[in-house]
Amino acid sequence: MGSIKTVAVLGGSGHLGPTIVHELVAAGFIVTGIMRDTYPSRISFWPDRVTIKKVHYNLLHELEAAFQGQDAVVSVLARTAYDEQINAINAAVAAGVKRFIPSEYSVINLHKPPSGPGPALSAWKIHEMLDGKIKTIEHLEHTVQAAKDFTWTALSTGLIFDRVGGLSSAGDSGLGFISLRTKQAFVIDSGNEKFHVSTLAQVGRAVVGVLNHPERTANKYLSTASFNVSRIELIALVEEVTRTKIAIRRISWWEMEAAGFVQASTVSHMSAFGIFLSVYTSQDGVGNALSEEESANSLLGLPYEDLRSSVVSWLRREGAL
Ligand SMILES: NC(=O)c1ccc[n+]([C@@H]2O[C@H](COP(=O)([O-])OP(=O)(O)OC[C@H]3O[C@@H](n4cnc5c(N)ncnc54)[C@H](OP(=O)(O)O)[C@@H]3O)[C@@H](O)[C@H]2O)c1
Repeated sequence: MGSIKTVAVLGGSGHLGPTIVHELVAAGFIVTGIMRDTYPSRISFWPDRVTIKKVHYNLLHELEAAFQGQDAVVSVLARTAYDEQINAINAAVAAGVKRFIPSEYSVINLHKPPSGPGPALSAWKIHEMLDGKIKTIEHLEHTVQAAKDFTWTALSTGLIFDRVGGLSSAGDSGLGFISLRTKQAFVIDSGNEKFHVSTLAQVGRAVVGVLNHPERTANKYLSTASFNVSRIELIALVEEVTRTKIAIRRISWWEMEAAGFVQASTVSHMSAFGIFLSVYTSQDGVGNALSEEESANSLLGLPYEDLRSSVVSWLRREGAL
């Protein structure tokens, strides 16, 4: 497989997309941003060098035309648009694209069946809610059997660290358990369970790492991280750096899971996503830290990041320092 130079990014205007686009451009790739034509897209903060193309995702020929000359397609599409990726994969094959990276960036490795202590119901709920991601990987696995030269790579990058909670909206962050404003935090069980986490920039660098190493990353589901951390560790670090006491509220995994089911039945299924996710990542013994054997960081040439520096940067951004 030759080297990858041109990259089309789908949905690069959202929460994760702009950083991925910036990292791709910084790494020297020629980037085209693909946006919906039917919807007034949010203003994106992309470098001027990025070419913009508008498409209707349901029109295969438009996607195929947009993908002509692209070596890779990187999808950062929203949850509501996972199904659009099936058309995008088919169009990418027709246009001669060599690598497809689906909109995964998952907290857990969705390629493995859920495991863990207890009934692990939260794990199954997460898998059910992210069904569109799982179907996309299945479609990629099926497609590569017949499509010569077409390959894929998916990335589980853990929780996104940057908008770790506090003053900012936790809506696009998995780590919304510390409030810098109220100086409160909540932990599940002991709070000592470690889980893997990536900064937004690290997610972008992981994508770059895949595209810089097309052979060794072909047709693989990979997990990467900035670091592993527990809730208690993060709270202690915030206390130390800000010299502030954080009040800790504890909840057991089963109380949290029960709250998730109440939320799912009284509000909406998807509104309980964050609750089930927090059980799945933080329940004692669940084992979602990224081990050295499972980590693709060295495969991608991706150094781990320093936890303390990342916390300090986050606190500065939030105005807490
Ligand atoms: N690990 C974590 O903690 C974490 C956290 C957040 C997100 N993620 C993952 O990262 C990926 C991207 O999430 P995000 O929060 O960045 O997404 P997002 O901001 O909600 O949406 C990304 C882009 O998708 C496009 N889009 C939205 N609805 C669409 C539709 N119905 N049809 C076609 N395109 C549509 C839009 O681009 P245009 O308007 O430009 O077309 C939008 O800017 C997802 O796979 C998500 O699960 C992971």
